[in-house]
Amino acid sequence: MLSGIPLFPVQASTVAPDVDRLYFLIIAVTSFFAIATVIAVAIFAIKYRDDSGERVGAQIHGSIPLELAWSVIPFIISMGIFVYATVVFFEIVRPPAETMEIYSTGKRWMWRFQHVDGKSEINELHVPKGRPVRVTFTSEDVLHSLYFPAFRVKADAIPGRYSSVWFEATQTGDFHLFCAEYCGTKHSGMIGKVVVMEPSAYQAWLSGSDGQPLAVRGQQLFQQLACVTCHLDDNTGRGPSLAGLFGTTVELEGGANAIADDSYIRESILTPQTKIVAGYQRLMPTFQGQVNEEGVMGLIEFIKSKAATARPQPGTAPASAPPARP
Ligand code: CUA
Repeated sequence: MLSGIPLFPVQASTVAPDVDRLYFLIIAVTSFFAIATVIAVAIFAIKYRDDSGERVGAQIHGSIPLELAWSVIPFIISMGIFVYATVVFFEIVRPPAETMEIYSTGKRWMWRFQHVDGKSEINELHVPKGRPVRVTFTSEDVLHSLYFPAFRVKADAIPGRYSSVWFEATQTGDFHLFCAEYCGTKHSGMIGKVVVMEPSAYQAWLSGSDGQPLAVRGQQLFQQLACVTCHLDDNTGRGPSLAGLFGTTVELEGGANAIADDSYIRESILTPQTKIVAGYQRLMPTFQGQVNEEGVMGLIEFIKSKAATARPQPGTAPASAPPARP
């Protein structure tokens, strides 16, 4: 029976129904016109067939109403698809504000997932149900592509830069994850599963953590690599202070601006000469070869955690304001 063969993966994320609706809408529109054209061709071929071999077709010279109709109607239909697809696209690329972060690296031929609290896993990813999760990832060698069919999200893993996908799982269970970019002989084995758990079960699973929180590992690297000697929190060092940096706009030498996000920090560690913060000198050496992708992710989490502590809490006066009471 056909019912035993799943034609489509289950819809297990909040965006999955929207992606499917768009997909089926496009299939329906294109099928309608393809079938209508084939039927019309068949009917006319029979109706106007020439048994005698002597009939000659009438010459037709244009028809404004007809030309308007076949221009305007397809235009309206395609713009409708465009607008709906744009809405779905924004939904897929813009994670909600309170999104849980997970880092990942792809390499031939496995996916390694790193939870912020320290737990890491290979070809398996545990996530809680009903909570937005963003996976930020890169590749250590060639192009890969991280694909979660049940969540309807996919993005290429590109060496040298970050990609990300986000999803909010809507049902518990095991779902496939694939590499969707041919990357060598064992590409077909670069697969795994996502385990969606109830939030309480996920917390229990996380608490069996074997590693240190990512930000703590980042902090240790920050000491080991001597970043701390130049990047002083009070901004008196040879490099800019990193406290409160994450997510802000940085003014660069030459007048350009950059957003201090994951990619900016990664670039500043590995190719520090690419973007120089205004007012600072080209002193920082590259840390390429001294820190691996996971080390970079740890440093990013550490810098993010500095952002959290440095941001003034609501209701407290900024450090520069005079004290309210003597
Ligand atoms: Cu990695 Cu295909």
